[in-house]
Amino acid sequence: MKPDEIKTKIQSVIDPKAKKTLGELEAIKHVGIDDNNSVILIIEVEEKDNETTKQITRDIAKIVKLDLGFKGVKIEFQKRKTRNQNAKTLLIASGKGGVGKSTVTVNLAYALKRMGKKAAIIDADIYGANMPKMMGGVGHKLMGNEDSKVYPFEKDGIQMVSTEYLVEKNRALMLRGPMLGKILKIFFEDTLWSEDIDYFLVDLPPGTGDVMMDLKNFSEDARMIIVTTPQASAAHIAIKAGYAAKDLSQEILGVVENMSYYEVEGKDHFIFGKGGGRKVADELTVDLLEKLPIVPSENPIHKESDVAGMIYLNLARKIMKKY
Ligand SMILES: Nc1ncnc2c1ncn2[C@@H]1O[C@H](COP(=O)(O)OP(=O)(O)OP(=O)(O)O)[C@@H](O)[C@H]1O
Ligand SMILES: [Mg+2]
Repeated sequence: MKPDEIKTKIQSVIDPKAKKTLGELEAIKHVGIDDNNSVILIIEVEEKDNETTKQITRDIAKIVKLDLGFKGVKIEFQKRKTRNQNAKTLLIASGKGGVGKSTVTVNLAYALKRMGKKAAIIDADIYGANMPKMMGGVGHKLMGNEDSKVYPFEKDGIQMVSTEYLVEKNRALMLRGPMLGKILKIFFEDTLWSEDIDYFLVDLPPGTGDVMMDLKNFSEDARMIIVTTPQASAAHIAIKAGYAAKDLSQEILGVVENMSYYEVEGKDHFIFGKGGGRKVADELTVDLLEKLPIVPSENPIHKESDVAGMIYLNLARKIMKKY
């Protein structure tokens, strides 16, 4: 009997943690036969705990020894790697919607890339995902591949996944609490991320709550960046979001004030007032990292040489120093 035939016979064994067959998971990494007529296997598992490895070993031994007549089976279990375990996770949050989370997320990803880091984006804005519009990957298909893995969209070396890709185009997403966790699991664990990603940037929905609670399951050591505008109303809600984060023991890296000023011929105009970012930072006792100008532009991604592009580079530098 050839190794390939053995592989076919054991494909139907189930990984109890992943609740899928080894075949579906493409978990059988090596099949061999040693001199003593024992089968040698390398199998990838979701969790390398006793319960999992024992059950898989028992199920495989049954097939290999009883059905196929081999003398024994030796299995080396490896924990499945889906993403760089050392990658850092930045959560881009705000209280109010429309303050520029997505804009900050995508520009920060580019700035980190320009600083020599590999950044990836998780568009976790379940109801208002717009990262595909910003990055230009609207028609990308995330799933439906034979191996049931998720392939991120990639542009300029930046990989990105979005809830937008999980539903039919332009149809509002109707999700209830537990679904959020499932979607985050897909993005964090079932996505074929490149293994050299340094920073995952998560574009959060406005407000706090469900998503942030669920996120804790996937990135223990994440740091949050709070985006606000200079208005008192935005700052007020950003402070609330910051306290909610603190209640969940979520470390906050700092505050970014967006739409701070509008520059005309060297003079700054404070269209939305002043002080929101400072207020949020002081109240939460964290740093005000940067203030970003108002830049009316069709393309939300700033060039490295733009004023805003340079501020984003400074922001990336500060973040890399802190985390
Ligand atoms: N600094 C800026 N200058 C000018 N326009 C900006 C700036 N930042 C963001 N915008 C614009 O404001 C709008 C809202 O920005 P963005 O989508 O990034 O906010 P958001 O916080 O992600 O919103 P939502 O809560 O809807 O997800 C967009 O049209 C964006 O292009
Ligand atoms: Mg957004």
